[in-house]
This record gives sequence, structure tokens and C-alpha cells, in this order.
Amino acid sequence: MPVTIDPDQSKSWLMRAYPVVRAHRGLLLTSLSLSLVGLLIQVQIPNTLRKGIDDAIVARSASLSKYVWLLVALAVVQGVLNFLARKYLLRTAYEIEFDLRNIIYSHLVRLPFGFYDRVQSGELMSRASSDIRAVQMYLAFGPSIIVQCAIALLAFGLMLSINPVLAVVAMITMPVIAVLGVLMRKAIFPVSWLIQARLARTTTVVDENIQGVRVVKAFAAEERQVNALAQAADKVRWAYRTDARIRSRWSPTLEALPRLGLALVLLFGGWMVIEGNTTVGTIVAFNSYVLMLQPPFRMLGMMIMLGQRASASAARIYEILDTPSEIVEAAEPVHARLHGDVVFDDVRFVYGDGTVALHDLDLTIRAGETVAIVGRTGSGKSTLGRLIARYYDATAGTVRLDDRDVRRYALGDLRKQVGIVPEEPFLFSESIRGNIAFGRPDATIEQVVAAAVAAGADEFVRELPAGYDTVVGERGYTLSGGQRQRVAIARALLMNPPILVLDDATSAVDVTVEQRIHRALEELMIGRTTIIVAHRLSTIGLAERVLLMEDGRIVADGTHRSLLASEPRYAAVLAEFQPEEVDVAGETEEVAA
Ligand SMILES: Nc1ncnc2c1ncn2[C@@H]1O[C@H](COP(=O)(O)OP(=O)(O)OP(=O)(O)O)[C@@H](O)[C@H]1O
Ligand SMILES: [Mg+2]
Repeated sequence: MPVTIDPDQSKSWLMRAYPVVRAHRGLLLTSLSLSLVGLLIQVQIPNTLRKGIDDAIVARSASLSKYVWLLVALAVVQGVLNFLARKYLLRTAYEIEFDLRNIIYSHLVRLPFGFYDRVQSGELMSRASSDIRAVQMYLAFGPSIIVQCAIALLAFGLMLSINPVLAVVAMITMPVIAVLGVLMRKAIFPVSWLIQARLARTTTVVDENIQGVRVVKAFAAEERQVNALAQAADKVRWAYRTDARIRSRWSPTLEALPRLGLALVLLFGGWMVIEGNTTVGTIVAFNSYVLMLQPPFRMLGMMIMLGQRASASAARIYEILDTPSEIVEAAEPVHARLHGDVVFDDVRFVYGDGTVALHDLDLTIRAGETVAIVGRTGSGKSTLGRLIARYYDATAGTVRLDDRDVRRYALGDLRKQVGIVPEEPFLFSESIRGNIAFGRPDATIEQVVAAAVAAGADEFVRELPAGYDTVVGERGYTLSGGQRQRVAIARALLMNPPILVLDDATSAVDVTVEQRIHRALEELMIGRTTIIVAHRLSTIGLAERVLLMEDGRIVADGTHRSLLASEPRYAAVLAEFQPEEVDVAGETEEVAA
């Protein structure tokens, strides 16, 4: 069972994250116990030094080499333990980070389309990364800092047992160090947030200018964009300088305090030695204790900062994790091979931002039918397709496939059986073969090629440097818009879907190639439901039935000829999309013939 965050939102962020820590408790506890033993040994070192000086040097009652060897042995053992403790601690930290990443990523890919309408995906991932880091640091390093502070108390006890007065003198600067450390972190904390935010902003500027470099150059806007970057960089500089100013104000005091502690030990200890109340060895030992104990006290401030940062980061991570999947799978999902009957029954659909995309839409498409959808931009054509594959659920009314509510089908089955090819398809930075086989990674190369042939892609793919193994996308070969569309059609065809929606999927392909694709499709799509969103007459001519959409409604339904004859709005919409010189009615005769 994979680890998850506790879904109970009433718990504190730490309690909710606890299952992730618990999954690695073996590693974390090993690290903590090693570090505990190491620190216990470390605490013995100044004490051994004290005995060595007092017994072997001052009183000359013991052998010096015995103490020297003892010290060396302690240092070696402590070093080894420290090394192992750190190693396991870092491993725990990375294991926790790995789990958090998986938890978030597996949730992100399950979130519905509606979620991605609202957020910017690039920002989302970079923010998630720094948030994961912050939480991981606290979860892994927090316990270790607590152990170190506990040991500091123990060392103080040991000092008290050696010389109570000198112990108090030696420790007197520690609370001040702790308080100053906390104050410094408090002052730096907001600035460090600012630095992060401004760095992210700068990264976005750089990123956009590199991605959009062609636009920048086309409009000769280099200088303006460089200035925009300089402005963003300037803000980063201001934040860093503020950070440096705060640090430089506090650090000297924080560094000087332990030295003040050393001086106090020397003053009071020296006086006590002169008076005969303590030994030289004690002064030396207490000096090392002062140096040894100040890091944990300084770390208290860091601990508080890490805690604040982690809790803010955790809140943002939980915000993502607590976003419910709006598309919920039925309790007893139906697994079935679809025939392809599509029915919209009084369907109304409103996007998350309040845009009403479909109004009380009624529509019946029989299995095997080929239907063209025509309509002006924004009339709801793409939305209609998205509802069939349940990218979104209808706000009111029902979408039925084979006389069953789409919501009753198993989501995975449904999406595999409704192929949607969008106008601007996304290709991954991998081989063409991999892109075509995306939905069926086990497809043979013959199957991939067959799909590519039907989609009219095979010809140009063979001419690419590495054929089907050519890597495309952002870090590979650049395909033209029409080529990308054909790869996407092949990707959908390979799934052999009973329902295929071509949403302007051949808009960038030239007319002759499109004709060939459609001839291949005609054979392939026999017995399948095909919905073609189209503007070109040649494309519309493939469908036996045409639907005209306007403002989220179907306002006309019939054959191309009958609509042309009886529906002035149809002719008007068509005319808008055809090149001027084409006579709509005239070309239609050819297409229909
Ligand atoms: N993801 C979305 N979030 C919010 N509103 C959207 C979203 N997608 C589309 N819309 C809105 O819903 C309405 C219908 O859009 P849709 O994409 O279905 O139109 P379309 O007919 O496919 O247009 P086009 O021909 O330009 O592709 C439009 O008003 C559009 O602005
Ligand atoms: Mg569209």
C-alpha cells in the first residue's frame, strides 16, 4: 500500500504528514540513535581532556599517552558514528522527498481538466518542488536538531557536576545566543520568502523569453524584453541586499558571544584556579563545552524558521492534495465495449469560470454514423466532444452512450473508447513511435505503421532522419502543425475507438492530404461513430449528417444540401470560413457528387 498524507483535514500539518515519516521510521530512528551515541561520546571528550591535563600534566600521577590515545579513540568513534548518522539522515530526507513527490504527482495526474483550467502548470510544478523541499527538511532534520539540543542539556548537567558555578558562567551567553538567533531568523524570514518569489518571477521572464524567442524577434522587442528581465533581476538584487544587511547586523554579535563566553570562563575559572577552587583542566574542558554547545543553541532559531516555512509549504501542498477529483468514478463502474450510440439529453454545461458553453442541448447520434459539426468559434463544438469522454460532467441533463449514463462507465474504459483529436495536439519529447503508441505502449511497430498510414503520416515519417524513432517535441525534431495533427490522429486510431471525435484535427493539413486521410478513415471508421468538427466544405462532404451549432445549442440538423437550401444561418457560417472566391453552392455539388 503506497504511503499517503492523512486525509483528515482537521489535523495539524505535522500529524497529517506523519504517515510519510512513519514509513521511514527505521532509517530515521537508526540515524537518530547513531547520532545520540555519537553526541554522548562527544560530550565525554572535554571531560577526558580535563582529566588528562589535571592528572598527567599538573599532578603527574598518570601517563599522558593513555589520555592521548583515549582522546584519539573517542574522536575516531565519534567521527564514524557521526558519518553514519548523517548518511542515514540524508537518506531519510531523500526517501521522504521521493514519497512526497510521488504522492503529489500521482494526485496531479488524477485531477480533472477543470483543475488545470484554473492553475498554471509550470508554476505549479516549480512551486511544488520548493514546497516539497521545505517540508522534507523539517521532517528529517527537525528530530535531529531536537536530539542535539537534548544532548546540550545533558552536557550542561555534566558541567554542573564538575563545577556548578563555572557551569553557570560558561552557559550564561547561551540563552542570549538562542534568543538572538531566533530574532535574526524572524527578521530574515520574510526576506527569504521575497527572494524565492522574485527568483521565481525572474525564471518565468527568462523562460517565456526563451520559449517565445521567435515572437520577441519578430516584433524586434529584444531591448524591451531585456529591460523587463533587468527589472526583475533588480528586484532580486534588492531582496538579496536586504537579506545581507540583516545578516551583517546580527551575525557579528552572534559570532562574538561564544568568545565572550570563553573570556568569562577564563576570568572566573582563572580566578578560581588562583584561589585553589578548581583546576586548569576544568577551564580547558569548559572552553571546549562552550564551543561545542553553541551550535545547537543557534540552531534553535533555524528550527523555528524551518518550521514556519514547512508549515506554509505543507499548506500549499495539502491544498493540491485536498482538491477532490470532480470526476468521480461510479461505485460499481460498468466495463463494456461501446457500440457508439451517443445521446445528449437536455444537457447544460457551465465551465468553472461561469461560462455557459452548452444550453439545454438535445442530440442523438446512432452508432456508426458520421456527423459533421459546424459552428462559429466559441459555439460549443469542442465542449460537446469533451463531455462525451467525460473530461467534464454535464452541469444538468445527461450524456448517454449506448443508453447508459456516461458516469456509470469505468473512466479508464470510457476514455480509451472515445478518441478525441484536438486541433493543437500535444506531443511528448520522445520518438514518433512512442507518441503514436502512447495509449497502447505494447503495440507492435506494424500496428503503429498501420495507424500512421491511415492518418496520412507514414509518408513524411519515413523521410525523417530516424524514421519512426525520430524524437520530436520540445527537445527534438520540429514537426509542422499539419504533421503534428497527423501523428495525433494516428495516436487516436491506434486505440481503435468506437467513437472518434476529430476536433478541427485536420485544420493544418492541406486539402489533398486531408482527402487521402479521409478516404483511409472512411474504410477504418465503418461501423464507428465519427464526429468531425470542420469548417472546410471538403471535410463536411464526408459526413452524411451535419449539425449547426450556435451559442451552445444545435440550431439545425440535416444533410449538407438540405441545410444549405433551408437554413440561411448555415450558408452564412460556411461562407465565413471559405476563401472568398469559392462559391459554396457550386463546390458543394462537386463534393456531394
Ligand atoms: N476550459 C475552459 N474554461 C472556461 N471556458 C471555456 C473553456 N473552454 C471553452 N470555454 C468557453 O466555452 C465556450 C465554448 O467553447 P468551445 O471551445 O466549446 O467552442 P468551439 O465551438 O470549440 O470554438 P472553436 O471553433 O474556436 O474551437 C466559449 O465561450 C469558450 O470561451
Ligand atoms: Mg474548439
